[in-house]
Amino acid sequence: MPRKKIIAGNWKMNKTPSEAVALVNELKPLVANEDVDVVFCVPAISIIPAMEAAKGSNISIGAENMYFQESGAYTGEIAPNMLTDVGVKYVIIGHSERREYFAETDETVNKKVLKAFEHGITPIICCGESLTQREQGITIDWIRQQIKIAFLDVTPEQAKTAVIAYEPIWAIGTGKVATTAQAQEVCKAIRDCIEEIYDKDTAQQIRIQYGGSVSKDSAPELFAQPDIDGGLVGGASLKPDFGAIVNYNK
Ligand code: PGA
Repeated sequence: MPRKKIIAGNWKMNKTPSEAVALVNELKPLVANEDVDVVFCVPAISIIPAMEAAKGSNISIGAENMYFQESGAYTGEIAPNMLTDVGVKYVIIGHSERREYFAETDETVNKKVLKAFEHGITPIICCGESLTQREQGITIDWIRQQIKIAFLDVTPEQAKTAVIAYEPIWAIGTGKVATTAQAQEVCKAIRDCIEEIYDKDTAQQIRIQYGGSVSKDSAPELFAQPDIDGGLVGGASLKPDFGAIVNYNK
């Protein structure tokens, strides 16, 4: 069975709850495309109102982060069952901004991934190299290490349902999109790594997104690559352009 594309918006720290409702209402008619799973990952405070606004549409509302404990004295964190209680099905884990500004590591990413699966939430697991790492020629080694640690103790059945987002850090928010060949090369290496950890079937089922300055112009070629199953989109997910990105195949 061919993999269904998954295109997710990552709103980051943008839009107040009322602005979020307005944006969901604006984008709702533009992002209809039955060939694609469409996810809007929004700030935690906007999850509930965005979900109300998205009712009756093809949009799933996801979270941008989650903690790896069930409950307790972790001031400011969001527990997995808080997300499932309101119907969240996707959570971004280990975005490079969380790694850079909030000290997330491959180990905390792994704990969060395991916790998300335990609660039936699909993690969108982020990986990606810095410009220095790319220039040093260690991109693939680096990504393989991130993937291997992220998937420690994840079962093949769980891994099949995971989403991985390959996001070169130098391409995030810079307008500098990776070339199609660069993006495909790394997404293929990720699939090969998953095959090595698990098996061919798991590798064929897992969905791998490209992220980093995806635009309505770059999306059609990127998403046509054999190992790129959609995108994680930051800046352009806050604009009507996101409708064109989701409808990259029309
Ligand atoms: P960008 O962000 O599309 O604005 O580069 C992508 C991301 O950080 O997920």
